[in-house]
Amino acid sequence: MTDPVATAVPVLTIDGPSGSGKGTISRLVASRLGWHYLDSGALYRAVGIAAGWADLDLSDASALVRCAFDTEVSFVDEAGEEPHVLVNGVDATTDLRTETAGAAASAIAAIPEVRSALRDRQRAFRQPPGLVADGRDMGTIIFPDAAHKVFLTASAEERAERRYKQLKEKGVSVTLDGLLREILARDARDASRAVAPLRPAPDAVCIDTTGLPIDTVVERVLALLPAPGAPPV
Ligand code: C5P
Repeated sequence: MTDPVATAVPVLTIDGPSGSGKGTISRLVASRLGWHYLDSGALYRAVGIAAGWADLDLSDASALVRCAFDTEVSFVDEAGEEPHVLVNGVDATTDLRTETAGAAASAIAAIPEVRSALRDRQRAFRQPPGLVADGRDMGTIIFPDAAHKVFLTASAEERAERRYKQLKEKGVSVTLDGLLREILARDARDASRAVAPLRPAPDAVCIDTTGLPIDTVVERVLALLPAPGAPPV
């Protein structure tokens, strides 16, 4: 049954492909609003990593579903920084951001039962005073009743460059060409899967972030929400 208190909590969903700026924008918007933040991709990445640790076969759906239920994921806030992510108590923040983890996440995310196993865990993030939820299906499947929905895009080249810079800063060794290929392959798989494919919710506002500074995108997203003190939508 739907929890009436939870559904009264406002949600802003920010979906989009890899490297579209979702993570950075969502964190900044959440911090400006004083709302909670859900990085749903980190949950899929964490299950992918835990499956790797347990040497699970990425085609063994039932083992992966068990892994999705059993993997403990916690987010440790670091003032102004990307939160640290503990997977079964181990700090996996750097491993989680690699393209290998992204590809494993994308493979397991195509299994419907894995998605169902993570559904309630994602919805539990809906806590007062509000939630900014970042992912692929936040506005379509997880929070279809969200009052505010955004879909961020950017050219594949710019997304690969942003990822390249992020990974370089974290000391992860990658090539721009390799990243572009991996991003395109992941986009294709995420957009073509049968369950919860990557696509904007019909009521989402699409923002192309190609060439736009982060601050501009943050302001555009915030402008979609009612001004503080205005009656709720
Ligand atoms: O957003 P991020 O790049 O961390 O997501 C990693 C992968 O997890 C995506 O490529 C996608 O396959 C999967 N994912 C998903 N649904 C979400 C979030 C992520 O399928 N809500």
